[in-house]
Amino acid sequence: MRPTALITGASRGLGAAIARELAPTHDLLLGARRPESLEPMLAELPGAVGLPADLTDHGAVAAAVAGIESLDVLVHNAGVAELGPIAETPAEAWRRSFESNVVAVAELTRLLLPALRAANGHVVLINSGAGLRANAGWGAYAASKFALRAFGDALRLEEPALRVTSIHPGRIDTDMQRDIIGTEGGAYDPDEFLKASSVAGAVRGAIETPRDAHPTEIILRPIAR
Ligand SMILES: NC(=O)c1ccc[n+]([C@@H]2O[C@H](COP(=O)([O-])OP(=O)(O)OC[C@H]3O[C@@H](n4cnc5c(N)ncnc54)[C@H](OP(=O)(O)O)[C@@H]3O)[C@@H](O)[C@H]2O)c1
Repeated sequence: MRPTALITGASRGLGAAIARELAPTHDLLLGARRPESLEPMLAELPGAVGLPADLTDHGAVAAAVAGIESLDVLVHNAGVAELGPIAETPAEAWRRSFESNVVAVAELTRLLLPALRAANGHVVLINSGAGLRANAGWGAYAASKFALRAFGDALRLEEPALRVTSIHPGRIDTDMQRDIIGTEGGAYDPDEFLKASSVAGAVRGAIETPRDAHPTEIILRPIAR
């Protein structure tokens, strides 16, 4: 029987690349906010099943995952990046960052723990370089990604049957990065950034690491040019 992987934020960007990477070997459950945004990936990957839900709507998420009894891989990829200096970041923006990047991850994991335990599953947390270092203008995003790392560290200790990997990529060529460069100013050159497919390859590498080894953290930077 093929293993099953649930990937959040799989409609585009890195999540879509992870879905493409795992499709040859895994049965896929793909998340995104709305059913329409999942249509292209479901058409591209026949057999994949859509689980549309806003991850910050905990009732909708509970309903979407209610039937899952065994889960080999859970990739928490969905996330938001709201940038700006602390002086211009109101409480609501901090809440949005933490709701999407931390609370939604904790709740989805909690709901799926019985299914993950049943499969000795692997939880992959798509973090960021910002989860290791906070730069000016990245306060709310970096704080949420530091919190995500702490969540992963605690989960790893509490659930010895599971493996938990935090992946910390630098800038990736996706819609999110286009928005960030739009905010920062300057030309968008995709060649300056990691390819989403390369980061997806690291996810596969983590999952395929033999079970005697626990890949706890993977850091990827774009190659210096
Ligand atoms: N891009 C980078 O440079 C970079 C670098 C390091 C780490 N990361 C991390 O990599 C992950 C993916 O980033 P990306 O660049 O691929 O982002 P993206 O292009 O903005 O795509 C975000 C994905 O997350 C989904 N999503 C966002 N909020 C959601 C919510 N509340 N409920 C359900 N789905 C939600 C979106 O679904 P819809 O299509 O339905 O909106 C979309 O599929 C994020 O965790 C990000 O922090 C990105």
